[in-house]
Amino acid sequence: MSNSNAERETWSTRIGFILAAVGSAVGLGNIWRFPFQVGQNGGAAFVVMYLAFVVLIGLPAMLVEFVVGRRTGMNTVSALKEFGSPRWKYLGGLFVFIGFVLLSYYSVIGGWVLRYMIGSATGSYMTQSAGSYFSEVATGFDALALHAVFMFAVIAIVALGVKRGIEFGVKLMVPAIIAIFALLAVYGYTLDGAMDAYAYYLSPDMGYLLANWQSIVPNAAAQGFFTLSLGMGVMITYASYLSEDENLAVDGVTIIGFNTGISILTGLVVFPILFSAGVNYSRAGAGAVFISMAEAFSSLPFGRVIGILFFLTVALAALSSSISLIEVIVSYAIDEFNIQRVRATVLIGTAIFLLGAPVALDPSGLDTHILNLYDKLAANILLVIGGLLLISVVTIFHTDKALDEIEKGVGNLVWWGHVWLWIVGVPVVVVLGVALTLGIVEYVEFLRGDFIPFVQEYL
Ligand code: PHE
Repeated sequence: MSNSNAERETWSTRIGFILAAVGSAVGLGNIWRFPFQVGQNGGAAFVVMYLAFVVLIGLPAMLVEFVVGRRTGMNTVSALKEFGSPRWKYLGGLFVFIGFVLLSYYSVIGGWVLRYMIGSATGSYMTQSAGSYFSEVATGFDALALHAVFMFAVIAIVALGVKRGIEFGVKLMVPAIIAIFALLAVYGYTLDGAMDAYAYYLSPDMGYLLANWQSIVPNAAAQGFFTLSLGMGVMITYASYLSEDENLAVDGVTIIGFNTGISILTGLVVFPILFSAGVNYSRAGAGAVFISMAEAFSSLPFGRVIGILFFLTVALAALSSSISLIEVIVSYAIDEFNIQRVRATVLIGTAIFLLGAPVALDPSGLDTHILNLYDKLAANILLVIGGLLLISVVTIFHTDKALDEIEKGVGNLVWWGHVWLWIVGVPVVVVLGVALTLGIVEYVEFLRGDFIPFVQEYL
């Protein structure tokens, strides 16, 4: 296995790269995070804002990451040093830090998914109320053990390397995810509540959007970055393994198309099942999907089989995202400290497990205060800061390199390249600045209103 820059690994095919990027994008963000964000932020009104962020901000921001990654062919820290200037390595350092925080709680949720997959097989969640089952399994020894199992799977795949591990893994996972969800969506369509669910999910209330934009905007921005794996160098790292000159814009559109399609498809699975089972979806919080899906599967015909399929699919999706998160850190460790991939992966994975342990052992149970502390920090603040700073390196300081790189594999873009740089450099920066400010205000409110009282109660 290569562990030096000279023989750095590459994807074996372009499809391998696209699938890996899709595999990174599609994950708990689409299935666990997206539905509860929709539920907390007013249904279809949130969906509209989210779609606007994904298309208008996500695509140009993703191209920025691709450009930096392919241009340099390096891990995020060295890539930023090379593309920008030596001091930009701190931004790469921030990306590595975000990777630790994000994966630490992501893996706990991955453990919950495994728990519910087992629960579907044994029928254990069907014999009690979905809410009390969730509070039993969400925190405590079980949660910690399954968090360990999930991290172990991540370590095993990533230790095998770019081609044998990641690329091979996602080639199986991505098609499986799409096939299973398509089946479940058809199943959802046949249910009684389907039409009401489609109305809630697909016809936006513009009045609600206008009245609540201060909370919808930062949450849509956070969800947009989270779901597209942007703002922490995943797409830099993955594009650094590209060997040929491809059309990056086409790749970006393909990846975003898949990811958005799968999010929308997830809603088409989740909401009809919930509505026909009479579950109140606006009951918000990180447990929402688990509580509601368990309630739904318990009362539906063939609920157990559908439950197994559903959670198995989610586990695969979570795994393919997790391997991209840890790969940012692993590739940095391999390049920078010249340690072997296997050893780097085991060490980093263990550290991430420990960082996630407080989330798995959270004494607040159903309220998931520690999870909220991590998730709001990572998604609403860190990813948005990461994205903003990255965009500024490229658009303010290094436009020539960016233009030159984006034109590779496409030919002379003339004015399109300038349009792209202007979009990311001006409107995107302004909107993200607003979203970040609103996100920080909301985080401070969360700390004051929820987290500090929680700490005072338990310490
Ligand atoms: N995009 C992944 C998901 O939706 C999460 C993720 C975020 C992965 C940031 C990598 C980087 O689940």
